[in-house]
Amino acid sequence: PAGATLIGAASAIAVGRSVSFTDPTSGAPALLLQPKAGSFLAYTAVCTHQGCTVSYEGSQFACPCHGATFDATTGDVTGGPARGPLTKINVQVVNGQVYAV
Ligand code: FES
Repeated sequence: PAGATLIGAASAIAVGRSVSFTDPTSGAPALLLQPKAGSFLAYTAVCTHQGCTVSYEGSQFACPCHGATFDATTGDVTGGPARGPLTKINVQVVNGQVYAV
């Protein structure tokens, strides 16, 4: 797609797992996940509390610094001390390749 940035092959991401990439817009660390087969979501991995890098664990993101958690479907905060949601990155799958758009 025009203006899109290739993240990687869809087949490289196991269902229920995530891969790291760099958000082409902000340059921040980001995570691409496949929570269900054929369904891809991406978020910046920067905790909205003080900027630590969150990881994807099961159905949520967890921050190692002060324990904030975020819903993996929406990016919304599910546990403090963070207050704001993770920033969602729109993705598109074309010919088996996942792009940030
Ligand atoms: Fe993530 Fe504080 S930086 S909980």
